[in-house]
Amino acid sequence: MLNVVIFGAPGSGKGTQSKLIIKEFGLEHISTGDVLRTEMKNGTELGKIAKGYIEKGQLVPDELIIGMLAKVLDSIENKNGVIFDGFPRTIKQAEELKKMLNERKTDVKYAINLDVEEDELINRLLERGRLSGRSDDNLETIKNRLEVYHSQTAPVAGFYIKEGKHHTIKGVGTIEEIFERIKKKLCQTS
Ligand code: AP5
Ligand code: MG
Repeated sequence: MLNVVIFGAPGSGKGTQSKLIIKEFGLEHISTGDVLRTEMKNGTELGKIAKGYIEKGQLVPDELIIGMLAKVLDSIENKNGVIFDGFPRTIKQAEELKKMLNERKTDVKYAINLDVEEDELINRLLERGRLSGRSDDNLETIKNRLEVYHSQTAPVAGFYIKEGKHHTIKGVGTIEEIFERIKKKLCQTS
């Protein structure tokens, strides 16, 4: 199974590139952010709890996210593999993901880290905020999301470096150029 973690700061293009990767490789897409936004829209208990964290730019607690992910994973029938977008975001989540996949006789194959400088991230997110109005795409929340990324999520790269699965990809350029870089990496090392 081709299980891929797509990793990177808010606005680095995880969702955009995931869409292209799933099409090319026939994978399932799990975005924990998208799942949480659906829960929020549906006004579920989890959605109500998540809203408070998302709107402040903080991470939703690990226990909630891990429980939610296990359920989503069990509902998937795709045997080609899964792309994990926005998960894991803490070392704890990375360890739990490994356990969950190992229990299902599989593991993460590649962790693709999209590298984009901070000014570009902020510009992309402010622009999206102007267009679509995602509730966390405002300057104050964006700054918190970036801070949380550096303190809690960036260390997850170390987890995958140790496992020999980490690949940094330059995340600046056209969407197609970046996708070509990812594709080359996934094909080259497989
Ligand atoms: P999540 O939904 O994961 O958001 P994020 O990590 O902040 O990242 P984004 O979705 O904003 O950006 P992206 O990297 O997907 O980029 P995109 O392709 O959209 O998480 C939201 C919140 O949910 C978190 O803050 C947290 O509270 C909670 N949460 C989620 N997962 C969690 C977890 N595992 N644990 C705990 N809490 C969790 O691109 C961004 C914009 O740039 C778009 O407008 C796009 O069109 C544009 N763009 C993309 N590529 C390019 C390019 N090459 N050039 C120019 N523009 C581009
Ligand atoms: Mg996203």
